Amino acid sequence: MPWEPSDFLRWTRAPNLALRPLGRGLREHLMDNPMRLRERVVVVTGAASGIGAAAARQCVREGAKVVLVDRDRERLDAVRSGLGDAAIALVADIADAETARRYVELAQKTFGRIDAALLNAGMAGRIAPIDEVTPEEFDRLFAVNVRSVWSGLAALFPAMKAQGGGSVVATASTGGLLGMQRIAPYIASKHAVIGLVKSAALEGARAGIRVNAVAPAPIDTPMMAHINQGLGAGDIEKSRARTVSRVPLRRFGTPEEVARMLVFLASDESGYCTGGVYLVDGGVVAGTYP
Ligand SMILES: NC(=O)c1ccc[n+]([C@@H]2O[C@H](COP(=O)([O-])OP(=O)(O)OC[C@H]3O[C@@H](n4cnc5c(N)ncnc54)[C@H](O)[C@@H]3O)[C@@H](O)[C@H]2O)c1
Repeated sequence: MPWEPSDFLRWTRAPNLALRPLGRGLREHLMDNPMRLRERVVVVTGAASGIGAAAARQCVREGAKVVLVDRDRERLDAVRSGLGDAAIALVADIADAETARRYVELAQKTFGRIDAALLNAGMAGRIAPIDEVTPEEFDRLFAVNVRSVWSGLAALFPAMKAQGGGSVVATASTGGLLGMQRIAPYIASKHAVIGLVKSAALEGARAGIRVNAVAPAPIDTPMMAHINQGLGAGDIEKSRARTVSRVPLRRFGTPEEVARMLVFLASDESGYCTGGVYLVDGGVVAGTYP
């Protein structure tokens, strides 16, 4: 009978066997079967573009069934149709209080359970100094970036508790750790996401629910193009060059590089990680550069 990853965990947890080196057969099996999300059901918000689309594809490659959520119907359909029967789509605004309840229900009705959620959708808002932002713009940004994470957690927790656990990952930003000029509401929203994640990790721990954040930047996606357009006052190439000059690794990250961290945090490979903020940032937060 072939080895299952769960056999591997049982085997390594047995105290008298804990230090035994992996047998050759098991090692080969794990290398041949890298599917870390086999039979798992994962919700991905913001799945029509950038990081969310890359994460949806990687989840399916790792064996998951996925519920894709986005408000952009056309692009969401394009991502979904590339994933066949493993994916179902929900066109919805994550700022709508009902959306989280709908994606949890859809996952349960279609695939019978819900194991992980990548609360990834977000917006940058208008690039402008603090005194030019309107109250309506500020509130909309917080509804999309922050309240959606709270409503996601609120809908996911009862479902995951009933199942005995789960993993929730929010896409925050290095902007959740550092300040930045001319994009203050976005920066404040990502600080808030990290606060929610830490608190939710404490509330979920006893029920086996892990909650983590990723903090990417700068990643080459339409959102980054929007930010560079705003910061560069129209000269997007100059603005992109300035952004890259501040990254120790001297390049933009790719959506796939962030997706790999999201998949790791969604899977059992990260079983001892909760309440954490995981950088995928080319070194930006490490310190002043050069
Ligand atoms: N690109 C970066 O450099 C970067 C850096 C740090 C954090 N992030 C975060 O990563 C996440 C994904 O961004 P991305 O760079 O892939 O951007 P993107 O623009 O490529 O994708 C964002 C997706 O979210 C969807 N979306 C936005 N608002 C929505 C709403 N109200 N309801 C439903 N869907 C909505 C959009 O339609 C889009 O498909 C965001 O939370 C963003 O803040 C991005």
